[in-house]
Amino acid sequence: MRIPDIAPGGRVLALGHYQPPNIVTNDDLTKTMDTSDEWIQSRVGIQQRRVAGKEESVEDMATIAGGKALAASGLSPDEVDLVIVATCTLESQIPNASAVVAHRLGINSPGAFDVNAACAGFCYALATASAAVRAGSARNVLVIGAEKLSQWVDWTDRSTAVIFADGAGAAVVGPSDTPGIGPVVWGSAGDKSEAISIEDRTSFLYQEGQTVFRWATTALHPVALEACSRAGVDPSELAAFVPHQANLRIIEAIARKLGADKAVVARDIVTAGNTSAASIPLALSRMLERGEVRSGGLALVLGFGAGLTYAGQVIEIP
Ligand SMILES: CC(C)(COP(=O)(O)OP(=O)(O)OC[C@H]1O[C@@H](n2cnc3c(N)ncnc32)[C@H](O)[C@@H]1OP(=O)(O)O)[C@@H](O)C(=O)NCCC(=O)NCCS
Repeated sequence: MRIPDIAPGGRVLALGHYQPPNIVTNDDLTKTMDTSDEWIQSRVGIQQRRVAGKEESVEDMATIAGGKALAASGLSPDEVDLVIVATCTLESQIPNASAVVAHRLGINSPGAFDVNAACAGFCYALATASAAVRAGSARNVLVIGAEKLSQWVDWTDRSTAVIFADGAGAAVVGPSDTPGIGPVVWGSAGDKSEAISIEDRTSFLYQEGQTVFRWATTALHPVALEACSRAGVDPSELAAFVPHQANLRIIEAIARKLGADKAVVARDIVTAGNTSAASIPLALSRMLERGEVRSGGLALVLGFGAGLTYAGQVIEIP
């Protein structure tokens, strides 16, 4: 048996993102449910979110974000041999999104699978992509987080409808002589699996908000610190902290405990809402586009959500 040449490291080569054009403000929501801009901003930190059109699917959004990341990487489609889509909001169980998206992007017969680790999905997929590149199982990998939560939310339920949104973000992962993706720290708390669920195809998203809030603000900063430690990075060296955009209060609580004083903290939720597996690549791609972070800096990404699942790693910003 022979093992192919193994790359010393994997790195994110490029990012891309897509948001549906339709903006829904907090004031818009007050027309259909008993809520207020003040309540939503103070409890969740969201001012507005994007909601996909009826005909716009997870695969559509994933294809646009993936296509942008691929174009930014400078690679041709035939240089990609693995496509992973992280999502938990597909309308149908099969086919998976990744094979459909790969075909639409002209990527010829790649390995293709979806990851469902809910809002932690992108970081799981990123770790898997990096491991595949390092092991010689893939040359370059397209990793996409894409969600259409709007189709799984009850738009009369004010406890969930104000939080969730739609969008997609993508990263191309390729080989590197120097590692650009640190070791992942991942895990789960299945004893709390009831806290966020969609029971069956006739149900909407249900969440025990306070259980999730308590868990996220107490269990995750040690994961963040461990991800830094495994990468040999002190939090003070981080240029950015990009946690899952669950809730602004959760983001700020983890950021405070992480103590990454020089890091720009992603607050994309304010205008993008909570887009589950899409939120991290969407936030980082938008931060780069706006010039809030620079290429070459270190970012800690940290996904967490239903399962309950979590995963985080330090990456070099492309
Ligand atoms: C969902 C969440 C914002 C609710 O905030 P909370 O402070 O826990 O609020 P509660 O559920 O205790 O509800 C407090 C009151 O606000 C009301 N309320 C709930 N949603 C409301 C809304 N959108 N607008 C106005 N009032 C609302 C409740 O009905 C309740 O009213 P009552 O006291 O008359 O019964 C909060 O628990 C949270 O952010 N949890 C984490 C959720 C999360 O991040 N999920 C994503 C994980 S990936």
